[in-house]
Amino acid sequence: MLSAAIITSSDSGYRGEREDLSGPVISEMLKAAGYEVKTMLLLPDERQMLADTMKKICDEHQADLILTTGGTGFSMRDCMPEATRDVIEREVPGIPEAMRAFSMQITKRAMLSRSAAGIRQSTLIVNLPGSPKAVRECLEVILPELKHGLEILK
Ligand code: MTE
Repeated sequence: MLSAAIITSSDSGYRGEREDLSGPVISEMLKAAGYEVKTMLLLPDERQMLADTMKKICDEHQADLILTTGGTGFSMRDCMPEATRDVIEREVPGIPEAMRAFSMQITKRAMLSRSAAGIRQSTLIVNLPGSPKAVRECLEVILPELKHGLEILK
């Protein structure tokens, strides 16, 4: 069974001022696709903390897949793509390209997501945008194709 970790990047969520709706959407969709969801974390938009957390999950082989949500936009605190690039060894540009291409048919604002994806050791990390709607739309496109890649990585 493939395993997954979910990381939400949100200052207001971390402070308890805003409910994290996107993390649970990811969890529900992963479970429906047959993944074991090992951890679900809510962290502030702190590049070092996000990078250290992803690095630990990868290096301790805690999950085959890390899906992140939030922190991909233009706000000064948005740093999820930077934190991801701090830890990945091999970039996988096709995944964010596919998400943006598909999402552009729904909203032209999809071009504003700076999401990245890549591999560290045997774990794939994919950044999703922040809203539950965007998460659902992006996962509908990529989730069916990820298994093939993850089986090769295992
Ligand atoms: N992608 C899809 N599929 N659907 C959406 O509604 N919203 C966009 C974009 N990608 C959206 C989407 C918007 S409005 C923004 S600002 C960016 O994702 C970045 O979102 P984030 O800052 O919450 O990560």
